[in-house]
Amino acid sequence: MTVSQCKGSFVTFEGIDACGKSTQIRLLHEFLRKNEVDAICLRDPGTTAISESIRRILLDNKNSAMSSWTELLLYEAARAQLVEEEIRPALAKGAIVLCDRFYDSTTAYQGYGRGLDLDIVRRANEIGSVGLTPDLTFFLDIDPRLAVARKREIGIAEDRLEAEGVAFQEKVRHGFRELQKAEPQRVSFIDGHRAIETIQLEIQSIMMPVIS
Ligand code: TMP
Repeated sequence: MTVSQCKGSFVTFEGIDACGKSTQIRLLHEFLRKNEVDAICLRDPGTTAISESIRRILLDNKNSAMSSWTELLLYEAARAQLVEEEIRPALAKGAIVLCDRFYDSTTAYQGYGRGLDLDIVRRANEIGSVGLTPDLTFFLDIDPRLAVARKREIGIAEDRLEAEGVAFQEKVRHGFRELQKAEPQRVSFIDGHRAIETIQLEIQSIMMPVIS
């Protein structure tokens, strides 16, 4: 498939921890680059120096005393920096921006997971995203028990959020599912239990209208 032209678009990837989104972003990025589409990959929280510093605070297991409100505001602060420093300039240049998580994660983790008031979380998201909304979001849905098995297989140490356990991830998964039902046009439901290649082909086909 040859892709000759593209317009700036903001595409986000969401799901519980170890749902496979990082692999899918990498494969999609490779596909776009092979087709000479200007695309960049970012992660939220992170990417910029300031946002990466905030990420370290957020994920540090030593910070078990962190209040859910502090957590909410730190995610929003990291995001505001990412939007201003990276996302908006890239979109202005016409690039496709692939972002590993964005404000839907805040709704799912801090809203549904931590139980913060959903309307306050929505308002915080507006501030943190500086009014920016994804054009397209992929929600990779997997059973949290599969996520735990994957993490064990890879042998990675759990960060502060991952250490919350399966019951927390169940609440977060429920949050993502509710979000997808509320905004089916923007948020594509992707069954993450299938083979990596099958999922990637589905993602690429959904991306085609974005790549004109
Ligand atoms: P990552 O490992 O997928 O980059 O995400 C880091 C962790 O931060 C992950 O456990 C999900 C969590 N998170 C939130 O709790 N709220 C948010 O707004 C975001 C973006 C991530």
